[in-house]
Amino acid sequence: MTRVAVVGVGMMGRNHVRVYSEMPGVELVAIVDQNQALAGPLSTLYHVPLYSDFREMVEKEKPDAVSVAVPTEFHYEVTRGLLEMGCNVLVEKPIAATLEQAWELLNLANRRNCVLTVGHIERFNPAIVELKRRLDSGELGRVFQVHARRVGPFPTRIQDVGVIKDLAIHDLDIMHYVTGSHVDRVYAEAKSTLHQLCEDMFVGTLHFMDNTIGLLEINWLTPTKIRELYVTGERGMFRVNYITQDLCFFENADVDASEWTSLSLIRGVSEGAIIQYAIKKKEPLRTELETFIGHLQGKANHLVSGLDAIRALQVAMALVESASVCRTIEVNSHERYRVPSIVPRQPGLSGGLEVLSETPTFQTGD
Ligand SMILES: NC(=O)c1ccc[n+]([C@@H]2O[C@H](COP(=O)([O-])OP(=O)(O)OC[C@H]3O[C@@H](n4cnc5c(N)ncnc54)[C@H](O)[C@@H]3O)[C@@H](O)[C@H]2O)c1
Repeated sequence: MTRVAVVGVGMMGRNHVRVYSEMPGVELVAIVDQNQALAGPLSTLYHVPLYSDFREMVEKEKPDAVSVAVPTEFHYEVTRGLLEMGCNVLVEKPIAATLEQAWELLNLANRRNCVLTVGHIERFNPAIVELKRRLDSGELGRVFQVHARRVGPFPTRIQDVGVIKDLAIHDLDIMHYVTGSHVDRVYAEAKSTLHQLCEDMFVGTLHFMDNTIGLLEINWLTPTKIRELYVTGERGMFRVNYITQDLCFFENADVDASEWTSLSLIRGVSEGAIIQYAIKKKEPLRTELETFIGHLQGKANHLVSGLDAIRALQVAMALVESASVCRTIEVNSHERYRVPSIVPRQPGLSGGLEVLSETPTFQTGD
């Protein structure tokens, strides 16, 4: 049995509690929240002890794994405390509020030999799993553009971050994941209409090192919820609907199916067949938490690494800066966004060791 706990049981954390409580091979040993009035009924419902202090909880319950679902501004403080006490942690996205904090968490996890993974939940959406499989097998040919629309109503409870760090972070992670490339240049326009401190509407463009163009349209000012990703390439366009978990392909009829292996020239574009794939639906959070626990139980799987989460945050920070200074930001030439030349491997995580170039090691905490 893997002993798990959840710190922060508000809107998102209570979903972690529900999913863990239903997972075989897992014992939910505690929940933690400073708001005892809110968490009390949950503690009763799931017959699980409630704490207000995560340190006291770890000392008494000794969990193997902890989900952190406190507001973003407290991710660093809570995750650092848990890693220092030797816990394996899944922290909700974004990994932290700043890059310096994120690097410190990753380095601490490495030093303590703890697993640190991040709740980039869209990776586990069945439509994205299928899209990634089809892209990796070359079905689209060259990818030209990735376009994300993530719009919806205003959530009054989110006070500490704007739409770039709160919502666009999902799409930045997915764009890195599906293209397999890194962003080197960004531009953003943003405005704040209802939010007191941060942007609540934003449009951004990205340039990837492999020349793919990225486009993001993200806001909290649209009175209907839309969550879509479009990937356009040589052989047509994929469209993901994250909410319904549907994946559609719009075929470019000017590409000869007999030339399936040729990836060279696009001769024209015209409307072809539209295919909606049959996809088995599953709650992404369930797959995300099964992946985390499966990893701790020694089963092979693919966790979102701390470095993946830092890349998404790095581009989000560059977009925030671009919107505030009204100019293009070169991500890689900017010292504070740069990924270090050598990143220590996280225990058990593939892809943690990267040798990129002669760039200097990123200094944390400055
Ligand atoms: N993956 C997703 O799709 C998704 C969706 C929503 C939210 N989130 C993330 O989940 C996190 C929480 O968001 P939310 O909307 O649930 O917020 P929320 O405000 O509804 O809940 C946060 C809870 O954390 C508690 N808390 C704050 N500091 C604490 C501390 N030090 N110790 C214990 N409890 C503490 C608060 O009392 C509150 O109950 C955020 O990081 C957010 O980005 C992710």
